[in-house]
Amino acid sequence: MDQFLNALPKAELHLHLEGSLEPELMFALAERNGIALAYDSVDELRQAYDFGNLQDFLDLYYQGAAVLQTEQDFYDLTWAYIERCQAQNVIHIEPFFDPQTHTARGIAFETVINGISRALKDAESQHGISTGLIMCFLRHLSEAEAFETLQQATPFLDNIIGIGLDSSEQDNPPAKFTRVFAKARELGLLTVAHAGEEGPAQNVIDALDILKVDRIDHGVRAADDTALMERLAHENIALTVCPLSNTRLRVFDDMSQHNILQMLEQGVKVTVNSDDPAYFGGYLTENFLALEKGLGMTHEQAIQLARNSFQYSFAKPERKAALL
Ligand code: ADE
Ligand code: ZN
Repeated sequence: MDQFLNALPKAELHLHLEGSLEPELMFALAERNGIALAYDSVDELRQAYDFGNLQDFLDLYYQGAAVLQTEQDFYDLTWAYIERCQAQNVIHIEPFFDPQTHTARGIAFETVINGISRALKDAESQHGISTGLIMCFLRHLSEAEAFETLQQATPFLDNIIGIGLDSSEQDNPPAKFTRVFAKARELGLLTVAHAGEEGPAQNVIDALDILKVDRIDHGVRAADDTALMERLAHENIALTVCPLSNTRLRVFDDMSQHNILQMLEQGVKVTVNSDDPAYFGGYLTENFLALEKGLGMTHEQAIQLARNSFQYSFAKPERKAALL
């Protein structure tokens, strides 16, 4: 463990709470809730984490989330992630959750958000970690289902700072969610969207121009479009990049091919994030370490990446000033 990278104060802006469900906790929750898993052991489950693409991963990720049943389960899931943050000096977090993964199984929206929110509140009071929760819509589902989810969130708008868009990017372009994003903005919510992960650079353009997002999740394929790269740099549009995710989902064959440092040097406001750390082999420090090992990231570059994570966070101005 590199002491410098672990001790460096960091923010995480792209983390799916369901993707922080470690196999050990998955087995413990399965037992607590009397649920049978398709795998006999933690080791067997980990061995299944060999993905050819995003969809391979999503199939296992949605299956794994089925062990989450009670408010306490959502608390325990979130708290386990908070403890990782505490150990890695991650002092501001903006985690995602996917309510539709749970409501589709008959779990009440309030069960999910109350468990998560209680843990985030404890993170602030017990560890001084500032937080902002982002609710994602699953883009493989319909616009009507996204609207229904936004409706369910209405009594809990104080618990969330924004909305996002995740799941299968292929065949589910940003334009499918134009109206629900407009409605969320009217409600005063910030907006982000996964774009340019597996999908084309055009999805990044459409997320900006059609969904009018405040930040792009992934966005690595923006590098295919020189004009877009210049726009991202000039308009200070941040990308929440996830290096280990990108290699594990074969967006890049090897870390040595990852474009994050090239984008950083071109003035694009990139940040480092872990996406689904229980599935991709590491939390935030491990992602920074992978960049050092695979790309020769310097300490100066690491400091700039961490600084970007504070600068382009949705933290309140006074908190942002303290972070920077
Ligand atoms: N949901 C969880 N992780 C995701 C990713 N990397 N891309 C799209 N949807 C996701
Ligand atoms: Zn993601």
